[in-house]
Amino acid sequence: MDADLVVVGSGLFGLTIAERVANDLGKRVVIVERRSHIGGNAWSETEPITGIEVHRYGAHLFHTSNEKVWDYVNRFTSFTGYQHHVYTTHKGVVFPMPVNLGTINQFFSAAYRPDQAKALIKEQSQELGNKEPSNFVEKGISLVGRPLYEAFFMNYTAKQWQTEPENLPASIVSRLPVRYTYNNRYFNDTYEGLPTDGYGAWLTRMIDNPLITVLTETDFFDDSHEYSKSKVVGTVPVVYTGPVDRYFDYVEGDLSWRTIDLEEEVLTDTGDFQGTSVMNYADLDVPFTRIHEFRHFHPERHYPTDKTVIHREYSRFAKRDDEPYYPINTDDDRAKLAKYRELAASEPEVIFGGRLGTYKYLDMHMAIASALMTYETVLRPHFNDGDPVK
Ligand code: FAD
Ligand code: NA
Repeated sequence: MDADLVVVGSGLFGLTIAERVANDLGKRVVIVERRSHIGGNAWSETEPITGIEVHRYGAHLFHTSNEKVWDYVNRFTSFTGYQHHVYTTHKGVVFPMPVNLGTINQFFSAAYRPDQAKALIKEQSQELGNKEPSNFVEKGISLVGRPLYEAFFMNYTAKQWQTEPENLPASIVSRLPVRYTYNNRYFNDTYEGLPTDGYGAWLTRMIDNPLITVLTETDFFDDSHEYSKSKVVGTVPVVYTGPVDRYFDYVEGDLSWRTIDLEEEVLTDTGDFQGTSVMNYADLDVPFTRIHEFRHFHPERHYPTDKTVIHREYSRFAKRDDEPYYPINTDDDRAKLAKYRELAASEPEVIFGGRLGTYKYLDMHMAIASALMTYETVLRPHFNDGDPVK
């Protein structure tokens, strides 16, 4: 065994752990990665016909207000000044997102000032009187009123869940974003941008240390290699960032996830398909939820002007062999998760981390912050002072 630490999964959680333990402590790290590349869902590649950078697992926008995370990521890449904006198509008309004063005035063909728009939406949201909302539709109406809810939220959400709106539980919506200004910046964080040379270059730089070995196309549960679960657990500390239910052979049942399908198309009859990076489709007559056009993430690059590449995004429940993307988090899931956490706590020297290992949706900056915390509070004290791993 040529490792002081085995990391399972090379997403941002695993890469951050490996980078710190190798660069800060001089320890040997082996990363086991099932896919053919590192980087987890943040990975990007150049689409060969257009030369345009494509985010393989769905568009990734970097944003954070955490100074420590911002300093950390800037060691490996600089960031462009990209600021994210989203639009939506409803009944053949394009509106700015998230719903803001511009959206409201365009929708009602009006010129409301903020207080007037607030009063209108308040009045519309009282349609059901004092009745406790009994499902997703009534909940939505009680939050933003029927007109905005039906136009911009109801069918989009139904498409995300592939379920009739009437059959969705009220609990999946607790608030719906509406802004009473014309600000349509998607993120409110202090720092935002895209890695100047791409995600692939950023993530590859994180493991540029001979102390880090990456084994791609290597599954932790496949016993035919030296770093499998049965060979390493109990022998060397492990950071596991795969699905927690899979680790325990699903003994407590499957946790539920949503996944997405991306349909890629290279267009050679135009250099600009939609004039912006993300267009949502709010209505049921279009089967996909949104279209991403990757050239618009990097207006500063010299991409060809006669071709472009898009992804149509479809959303659905994940089956066991699909990529798990968004935790659904029903009451049933939470009960299972509590049992998996108990099992995880008694697993010798195995730390469960990241999105899949904790069954939590984490943005990139959150995965990095969580990994830095694990490093500082558990791994560094372990390697420096012999503290137990848990
Ligand atoms: P992952 O990136 O999922 O990495 C886990 C890795 O473990 C994978 O590479 C997987 O192959 C590997 N693995 C699993 N099981 C095994 C096994 N048995 N053996 C070996 N390897 C295994 N964040 C943002 O900040 N901005 C965004 O715009 C954004 N958009 C997103 C869009 C989508 C569709 C998704 C799914 C996520 C998005 N995120 C975004 C979140 C971002 O991808 C996460 O922060 C990041 O994935 C978390 O990293 P991670 O290391 O926890 O998990
Ligand atoms: Na995204």
